[in-house]
Amino acid sequence: MKVSVSTIAMSELDVDVLIVPVSAEDAAAGLKDLASHFGKPVEQMRLDFTGKTGETALIYPDSSSTRRIMAVGAGEKDRLNAEGLRRAAATGAGALKKLSVETAAIALPEGMDDAEAASQALVEGFMLGSYEFNLYRTEQTEEPPVQRLVIQTSDSDVPVRRGAERGRVVSESVCTARDLVNLSPDEKTPVLFSKAIEKSARKYGYDASVWDKEMIEEEGMGGLLAVNRGSMEPPTFTVLEWKPENARNRKPIVLVGKGVVFDTGGLSLKPTKGSMDSMKSDMAGAAAVVGAMEAIARLELPVFVIALIPATDNRPGQQAYVPGDVIRMHSGKTVEVLNTDAEGRMLLADALSYAGDLYPELVIDLATLTGAVVVALGEFVSAVMTNTNTETPQYIEAMIEAGERSGDRVHPLPMHEEYADLLKSTVADMKNVGGRAAGSITAAKFLEAFVDYPWLHLDIAGTSFLETAQPYRPVGGTGFGVRLLVEFVLDYAQQKRS
Ligand code: BES
Ligand code: MN
Ligand code: ZN
Repeated sequence: MKVSVSTIAMSELDVDVLIVPVSAEDAAAGLKDLASHFGKPVEQMRLDFTGKTGETALIYPDSSSTRRIMAVGAGEKDRLNAEGLRRAAATGAGALKKLSVETAAIALPEGMDDAEAASQALVEGFMLGSYEFNLYRTEQTEEPPVQRLVIQTSDSDVPVRRGAERGRVVSESVCTARDLVNLSPDEKTPVLFSKAIEKSARKYGYDASVWDKEMIEEEGMGGLLAVNRGSMEPPTFTVLEWKPENARNRKPIVLVGKGVVFDTGGLSLKPTKGSMDSMKSDMAGAAAVVGAMEAIARLELPVFVIALIPATDNRPGQQAYVPGDVIRMHSGKTVEVLNTDAEGRMLLADALSYAGDLYPELVIDLATLTGAVVVALGEFVSAVMTNTNTETPQYIEAMIEAGERSGDRVHPLPMHEEYADLLKSTVADMKNVGGRAAGSITAAKFLEAFVDYPWLHLDIAGTSFLETAQPYRPVGGTGFGVRLLVEFVLDYAQQKRS
């Protein structure tokens, strides 16, 4: 989709549909005002439109042309923020899918405090709301998608342009992550997945190197290798790097993404009916990291970032790791496996331990780690946790705020020492499960044992793959985490300057 900014008056814009966010307060007056822009006598208009989020109304202001105006509900006026604009733009995008529209414009509401963020949000809402995954459909959908989007503004246009451009790049990166998640598992073996990542790296100018099984063995990644033992497909460990000359940090920010390309549970086969159906999405953490690297490189953010992606599937097989196995991890610690379905923490632990060798400023991992986080927070918000064994200055607050700004929202869970006691093993340094209670926290406590640097852990099991669509998130892969990471890194770069 092409995205541009225009300061041409609404009534003069040459597009098929002009989308105008209208708040509840302005619904009555606003629509009349809108019509008057086009010289239409308001008495002729009668519309069932109250300005609530999700509502749309189509207006034909000019009988001599096919041009249409679409009012989209923007909710309460004084609460209209970036997220409201994203949802309003997505409402418009959704309604356009049923019309044949090649070009659309969205009017940037006047009086937003941050025109750049508002413009970015409109583009994100529209592009993410337009997303469809059609790779496997043999019949094309009838209506071709919108080709060109114009952000119409009466403000000075420089920040609006910057926001629109960032919105476009970020949205495309989110869609990269969605596509990777939605891909059929048989096209997503670790090797094929790594190839797709290398392709992104080549295309957008960041570095990628893929370790094969032999290198993973040499590095001593016992956790990743244990999970991989039941598989016919070798594991990979992919290292990505973005290191611009103008980087404001000397020590890297390291991103780690869980790359379980399919999770059957292994020999502790997934016990609940239907719970395996969406497990092609168990690499959503890795997909989010790839999307974020893509955006960071394309936006040329002045930050040194490394990303680590351990990838394997988790299957029962004749060689599969079994309950009772004691595994020697990359860090040298030993782990008693009591449930092979707690596999994510096994490979993340190795990646986190390796991250320590990179002298990181901060490490952030993203993982579809626990069903328990879905119970706690549902499909709307991810959990964020941080370690208690090192000073982690204000990173968690910065992450929560990045969540609010980006719309990829996160909520903290506690990390008190008592939770770690639940992981004591009778035969090894620790066991890989803590029991039913506080499952997301004990999983994080397990990971913490492999961390000796500032660290944030994001459990995205609930938010990364949806059963029920949300305003600009479709059923299936959401790309959750891409916007969050980009927003976090952008803010980090800005803090470093001052
Ligand atoms: N990939 C799952 C977690 C998951 C559940 C992701 C639902 C997305 C939706 C993870 O590997 C897993 O199986 N976790 C277990 C851990 C348990 C055995 C301690 C879980 O949450 O049940
Ligand atoms: Mn599992
Ligand atoms: Zn898993």
